Order: sequence, then structure tokens, then C-alpha cells
Amino acid sequence: MSMRSPFPIPYGWFQVAWPGDVKVGQVLPLEYFDRHLALWRDDNGVPHVNDAFCPHLGAHFGHGGSVDGEELVCPFHGWRFAPDGTNTKIPYSERTNKKACVRSYPTVERNGLIMAWYHPEDAAPMWEVPEVPEFNDPENFTEPVTRDYRVEAPWQELAENGVDSAHFRYVHHTDEVPELEAYEMDGPFSHMRSRQRFPTPRGVVDGRIDADSYGPGFSVIHFSGIVDTVLMGCNVPLSDSACHMRFTFCVRKLGDDAALNSTVGQAFVDEIHKQVQEDKPIWENKAHLVRPALADTDGPFTKFRRWAAQFYAEGVDDSALVYEPQGSYPAELIETASRKHGSDPFANT
Ligand code: FES
Ligand SMILES: [Fe+2]
Repeated sequence: MSMRSPFPIPYGWFQVAWPGDVKVGQVLPLEYFDRHLALWRDDNGVPHVNDAFCPHLGAHFGHGGSVDGEELVCPFHGWRFAPDGTNTKIPYSERTNKKACVRSYPTVERNGLIMAWYHPEDAAPMWEVPEVPEFNDPENFTEPVTRDYRVEAPWQELAENGVDSAHFRYVHHTDEVPELEAYEMDGPFSHMRSRQRFPTPRGVVDGRIDADSYGPGFSVIHFSGIVDTVLMGCNVPLSDSACHMRFTFCVRKLGDDAALNSTVGQAFVDEIHKQVQEDKPIWENKAHLVRPALADTDGPFTKFRRWAAQFYAEGVDDSALVYEPQGSYPAELIETASRKHGSDPFANT
């Protein structure tokens, strides 16, 4: 493990795709949790996630594999597997191979997201992905708008931003910072209630930001005051030191004016996009300090870190106290290099 962070990959539900990414009968290669994976949709439309490599001779299901009914078919010698990973057929043998089992990840499609459960020891899901009413209410809320980013920092650094009220003024240059009313933990869930004043051309409006997290990979944030906006924030670990950050937004419809709805939604998405661009260089180049020197008026970092610690089944070795990033590069350099070599599939231009 790198010394970038004391944290291994956390367990939980993580968004591995949006529904439109994978069609019925399609098998796609993915890389998350430091593993090669295959995402496929069976002929009944149900998505599944399995390890990528066939236990027979190691072919990657996501490169040429196919789907037949409810089975995944290997491109190399045609072996078939059920969604739970058991070998159901070897086309040139009378028998199956009981030892040939592909690891499977519990998968659900809900709220317009495809989510898979990851646990390093393959433990069964310990909670459910909740339904988010706004993303299941096309009459009152707009179609989802999405954004995604690759961030070279561990999940916890990104999530800690939520309790860091002081950074808004310095990183995002906002005049108003959220005022925390309550921050409660309930096992793998956390609930944050805060008041936020939003400056508008017609003066300052009193609003709210309420954030509910369901494990490390799924947060639902309600913004109200100007126009009700709901954001599902999904951080998916690529490894112990990098994340794929996915956002899905919807906005309460302001009547039947589609153009107006999309303008209001777009302004909000643009603001969040701007904030990510501002946060990213901080996250990617910051060290992780095991014992930060906090101000008495800082946000509830200690509480957040205690909550986050529960998701590391492999334990946390934070004996180094300071964990530094591997390199330090101006953002433009990284961007030019990855664009030139086309190596950054998540680059958002
Ligand atoms: S490698 Fe998959 S069937 Fe042979
Ligand atoms: Fe931020």
C-alpha cells in the first residue's frame, strides 16, 4: 500500500455506472476498488457486477464477453456463469467446474444509479441504498443532470470537505458560510443540518443545506431557499489513493417552462462544477494529518473522522502521523499530459 494515506479502501455501496452506460446484453470493463471488474446487464434488464477475469484461463469478460439470458459468457472458450459467479456450463464438457467461481458484487439499480456493494472480505451488504423520492418523481423534478471527475486523493479527503465550513470563504470565495445546526451519526449513516444564506441579485435569501450520507459512497444533499435542488454525491474508490466522483442533480420544476427549468438547474450545476475545480488542487496536493491543529470554531472534523473510521474493515495504520502526496504538479501540467496521451477517461473538458 502506498503511503499517500493511512486508509485502505472503505466498504459500502458505490456508484459504478449510470443506467444508460450499459445496455441489455452488454458487458463492460470497469476498474474500481483497485480491481478489474465486469459490469453486464442480463436479458431481463438486471445489472450485475463481477470480477473481470474468467477463472478458466483468465480472459476479461468485459472485452468480448456476451450475455445469454441470465448468464455471462466468456469470450475465450464459451464457459458460462450465473450472476452469483457459479459456473453453469462448459460447452465442450458434460460437467461444470465447481471451483471455477467468479466473485460477484451485490448490485442494485435505484434512483437512476447503478450501485455495487464492495467489502474487502466479501461480507454481505450491511444496509440498503435508500430511495430518494425526488429522483423518482418526474412530474415535479427535472431530468437528472450529471457530472463526474477523477480526483487523485482518497475518499476520506473529499468527504471531509463536508464538515469544513471555514474553507468556503477561502477556497470558494463565498460571502456566506453554512451554519451547522445538527450533525448526527446513526451507525453507517450521518445527517447534517445547516442553514445557508444565498446571495442573489435581489438580496440575500435564507436557505438550507441538508446532507444525509449512507456509508462512504452515497450522499444525498438537499439545497433549499432559492430553488429546491437535490444532489446525489457518489464517491467511488479507484484505489486507496484515487476516487471517481459522480454527481447527479435534479431541480424542482418551476412550472412547464422547460427552458427556465434547465437554466436554473444549469446555474446550480455550474456553481458546483466551479467548486470542484477549486477543491481539486487542494485535495490532490494536501497531506493527511492524523492530528490536525484545529481552531475552536472549526467544523466537527473529529466527529466526522470517527464516523469514517468504521468503514475500514482492514484497519487503519496511522502511525506515520503525516501522509504526503506522491508528487506535486501544477494542474495544467497534469491535464496537458493526460490529454496528450489520452489516459484520463474521466477528464471533463
Ligand atoms: S478463459 Fe474463460 S472460458 Fe476459457
Ligand atoms: Fe469545497
